[in-house]
Amino acid sequence: MPQIKKIGVLTGGGDAPGLNAVIRAVVKSAHNAGIEVIGLEDSFDGLLDPSRSRVLTPRDVTGILRLGGTILGTTNHGNPFEYPVDTPGGKVDYSDRVVETFHKMGLQALVVIGGDGSLSIAHQFYLKGIPVVGVPKTIDNDIVGTNSCFGFDTAVDFAAGAIDRLHTTAEAHKRIMVVEVMGRYAGWIALHSGVAGGADVILMPEIPFDLERVAATIRKRESFGAKFSIVVVAEGAKPIGGTLTVREAARAGYVERLGGVGIGVSAQLEEMTGKEARCVVLGHLQRGGGPTSFDRVLATRFGGAAVELLRRGVYGKMVANNPPDIVPVPLSDIVGRTKTVPLDYDLLRTARAIGVSFGD
Ligand code: F6P
Repeated sequence: MPQIKKIGVLTGGGDAPGLNAVIRAVVKSAHNAGIEVIGLEDSFDGLLDPSRSRVLTPRDVTGILRLGGTILGTTNHGNPFEYPVDTPGGKVDYSDRVVETFHKMGLQALVVIGGDGSLSIAHQFYLKGIPVVGVPKTIDNDIVGTNSCFGFDTAVDFAAGAIDRLHTTAEAHKRIMVVEVMGRYAGWIALHSGVAGGADVILMPEIPFDLERVAATIRKRESFGAKFSIVVVAEGAKPIGGTLTVREAARAGYVERLGGVGIGVSAQLEEMTGKEARCVVLGHLQRGGGPTSFDRVLATRFGGAAVELLRRGVYGKMVANNPPDIVPVPLSDIVGRTKTVPLDYDLLRTARAIGVSFGD
């Protein structure tokens, strides 16, 4: 097998804490194996125009382990197969140009660090002949085939900290505090941060809710003297028989944006219980800032494993966390699928057992 000498690395989709830790691990482990790394800017855009790329040496990645964001930049509307443009069709297919640029730059393999969208694009390029290895990134933790994605632990940690703070003000004012968290169509962040923060109610996409049940839980708490309640609601949660709260509909090259369910939940609970309610939307604070130690370690393991796969000539795979190992899983296994919270997940069962309401 010919020794790989030059690889590209890019970060795609929404950012997540730990992206820089992966880049650092890729650059350092590749460098130590005699492989040059080219950093591609703003996701696949860096392969549309070679001037949007640069050599990354260990010097360039020194000190970035603890930094949030990504030194390479990213975008979640740069799919080269459906690039958004201002023409009647609204999109154009630049994928052949990407393949051409990849070869012109002398790259022999590509590390794509991204969520389900970027990994699907990576898979499409693999089918077009580019040797690719994917690294799963998302605060949502919704990528199938891996036990966890880096970024998730940091998001949960932040959200749990926010819930802690809301507890004290909720208790002082005897209010209902509704905390809207991210997670898209999965309730991982809501469930984990809700349990870690001691929420009384957790509403998540996997379990459509009935607000009358939530109001009953709040009244029951009231009756034993707990005059405040914390309700965590995932942005993808919806009422039984109802629909998702969409902030912006999908359009050419852009995915649907969720958000806003919390404010309605808060207003309705106020009306149903007669108690004051406030809504806090944590939004992008969950994605900002540096990664937790857990995410730094996971990101570093993923980066090292990705380079190891490329050196072994194993392509078309995603590195996955399958404790205690990091293992390769075919990208084809994950395309178009979403890992939601299983209804028999032990944490879900335990949360119910300790009295958390899911509004069902
Ligand atoms: O996928 C990560 C995520 O933060 C989701 O939880 C959220 O729905 C979405 O991205 C927000 O995207 P944007 O940064 O485009 O607003």
